[in-house]
Amino acid sequence: MTESTPRIKIAIQKSGRLSEDSLRLLKQSGLQFESSKDKLFWFGRNLPVDLLLVRDDDIPRLLLEGVCELGIVGENVAAEKLLEARKRRPDAHLDNLAALEFGYCRLMLAIPEDQEYSGPKQLDGGRVATSYPRLTRSWLRENGVEAEIVVLNGAVEIAPSLGTADAIVDLVSTGTTLRANHLKPVATVLNSQAALYRGRSRLAPERQALLDKLVQRVLGVQRAAETKYVMLHAPRDRLARISEILPGAETPTVLPLEGQPDKVAVHALCTEQVFWEHLEELKSAGASAILVLPVEKMLV
Ligand code: PRP
Ligand code: ZN
Repeated sequence: MTESTPRIKIAIQKSGRLSEDSLRLLKQSGLQFESSKDKLFWFGRNLPVDLLLVRDDDIPRLLLEGVCELGIVGENVAAEKLLEARKRRPDAHLDNLAALEFGYCRLMLAIPEDQEYSGPKQLDGGRVATSYPRLTRSWLRENGVEAEIVVLNGAVEIAPSLGTADAIVDLVSTGTTLRANHLKPVATVLNSQAALYRGRSRLAPERQALLDKLVQRVLGVQRAAETKYVMLHAPRDRLARISEILPGAETPTVLPLEGQPDKVAVHALCTEQVFWEHLEELKSAGASAILVLPVEKMLV
């Protein structure tokens, strides 16, 4: 690798609920870094791809400003920051390349647990505390509610007990924070999970090719995680029924079984989750010797 090799930067959360899974995904995509616990910049060892470890809230801006080409951040944060950026640049845009199936959470309206909830209208004339003022405002507007938004950057959940707000809009994942503060979630503003984002900066062909390769790998890891390789034996005359049961299998491979003319071996790539229920159904349809194997890598 020469000094002039074009490099790509990926931003991920430094420490928080997305950090570990983000790093795992990139490592499974074949990236190795010269890591150091307290450094914000990890140099890519085997590919010209470096890592920037930052606060999740800063990731959308780093992408919008072209500092990083790729980023992994919650859809909630991306949506809020995009609305914010559009105040200044109406054409600001981030491409969501893939939902990553971790970091699930919901942005929710919550009220004190001892209060009744009759619908969004009860917030009329009241105050709502949140770190997501733009998403909250647009949700209130959609529901025809006129309420004051109190912007807080942390400890949103204590606003009702301090008397600074009647309700809050905040992230809920396990619900522990709300319960600890005697609040209850009553409406969902946004469903969210971690996603891979791409900024809009135009890249020279060589860097674009590198970025495309990287994205394909990440998507491949994603796909492989849901995909299973299923092998089983089946009576030849049950083949049609058995193929129907296999979740997300397009064209199973059918192989003869030596000395058993009425039976075949079936190998199938199942692109949807394979549950115990599927195996039980296969067995009652006549299948035997059913094996489910993980798929490590996929390139399609
Ligand atoms: C969110 C939110 C709550 C907590 C809810 O903060 O602000 O404090 O998570 O999670 P729970 O339902 O599992 O209790 P987050 O960890 O995203 O931190 P940040 O807003 O500072 O990034
Ligand atoms: Zn954050």
